[in-house]
Amino acid sequence: MINEKTINDINKCIKKLAVTTAFLTMDNYIQHGDTTCLWHSIAVAYYSLFLVRLFHLRCNRQSLLMGALFHDYYLYDWHVKDPSHRFHGFRHPKTALKNTRKVRKMNEVEMDIIMKHMFPLTPFPPVYKESIIVCIVDKICSTYEVFCRNTYKLLKKECRLYSCI
Ligand SMILES: [Fe+2]
Ligand SMILES: [Fe+2]
Repeated sequence: MINEKTINDINKCIKKLAVTTAFLTMDNYIQHGDTTCLWHSIAVAYYSLFLVRLFHLRCNRQSLLMGALFHDYYLYDWHVKDPSHRFHGFRHPKTALKNTRKVRKMNEVEMDIIMKHMFPLTPFPPVYKESIIVCIVDKICSTYEVFCRNTYKLLKKECRLYSCI
């Protein structure tokens, strides 16, 4: 079941990002299985907000949403063999942060979400509630994507992407 308020918040965000950033181009890059970086990021954002609602957690929902949407904004296909894609698992948080900073101002929480989401593969643990949530949800979504095809059918039905991708 999809929560309407959460989907509305995500849709509002995507509407802005579609015209101000290269956010929708993430649909050109596979993340895991047949799931693209775009849908992986939307799913991580949705389920992070879902957890906050479920457990009535106090946190900065807007920072959680933005950090989750941009946590994998590295803008390349890591499956393509290229020297610049080497050590992708370790290096992509930094690339995602660099790309994100070109298109919007980030606060401390959002930067922590992006930089620390690969912990424990990367050495520094997330320090904010929001970054801990994204770090956990990212792993759950990634595992689901690796083992399943045709992922996030309901989310795909509910999210409006405001462009021909
Ligand atoms: Fe990542
Ligand atoms: Fe991710």
